[in-house]
Amino acid sequence: MSHPQNKVALITGSARRIGAFTAEYLHQRNYDIILHYRASGDLAKTLRDKLNAARAHSCIALHADLADPEALQQLAEQTKSWKHRLDLLVNNASSYYPTQLGETTQEHWQDLFSSNARAPYFLIQSLHPLLLASQGNVVNIIDAMATHPNVDFIPYNMAKTTLHTLTRSMAKLLAPSVRVNSVSPGVMLWPVGDHDPSAEEKEKIVAQVPLQRMGTEQDIARTIYFLAEDAPYITGQDIAVDGGQSLV
Ligand SMILES: NC(=O)c1ccc[n+]([C@@H]2O[C@H](COP(=O)([O-])OP(=O)(O)OC[C@H]3O[C@@H](n4cnc5c(N)ncnc54)[C@H](OP(=O)(O)O)[C@@H]3O)[C@@H](O)[C@H]2O)c1
Repeated sequence: MSHPQNKVALITGSARRIGAFTAEYLHQRNYDIILHYRASGDLAKTLRDKLNAARAHSCIALHADLADPEALQQLAEQTKSWKHRLDLLVNNASSYYPTQLGETTQEHWQDLFSSNARAPYFLIQSLHPLLLASQGNVVNIIDAMATHPNVDFIPYNMAKTTLHTLTRSMAKLLAPSVRVNSVSPGVMLWPVGDHDPSAEEKEKIVAQVPLQRMGTEQDIARTIYFLAEDAPYITGQDIAVDGGQSLV
């Protein structure tokens, strides 16, 4: 049974991959979980049912397209009304794809910026009273290579670097009650669909990582947990969890 005083975490984009792993990781450490999804409704509901089977009333799954301002607001309202408590907001949801100069549309820009930058800002705006009340944490998920010029990913990298500015600014604004940090993954999971690199490209990318291997979802989840639970004097910082990739 969920304890009335369990901490509550909202993790955006948590139906699958890093977000879903993080949800389970935090749940196993007694967080109650608000899953958020857009297209992956079936996966989100399966995970929700699994977590509730392990501990009753410990999880809900909320739908929102973060590109839709009304849906974003509704996600914040539903978050507030679930347990009237929020201890950790993980801004994890992200659109990711290449955009070539000459072919980038306003829709690409809107999509990349709404998930990676706008939604984190407005979620913090709506939810910061609950985070202040709980002396909680925000962890934004950026990208270890966001500041490296990559000509195929200019708007994506621009959106992610904005999230870094948001991290530092909010850390200053919400101190001393709320800590705001970020985690920047390196090569953890390959993209799915059209943007999955070829086997040869993958080998080349991993060979350039100083630690000579990919990371895992667990590397990200445990860093988020560390920042929330074991880092009381850290705020406004970014931790690259990238095997040294960004050093090269
Ligand atoms: N995977 C890596 O190796 C890697 C490397 C560097 C940085 N990162 C960062 O780490 C985080 C997690 O990575 P990941 O690979 O697990 O992410 P992902 O699978 O690419 O995306 C996570 C979720 O974001 C949601 N999302 C995207 N656009 C959305 C929108 N407009 N509204 C609502 N939800 C939206 C999707 O939800 P639905 O499926 O429900 O639509 C998706 O499942 C991301 O912030 C990513 O940028 C990952």
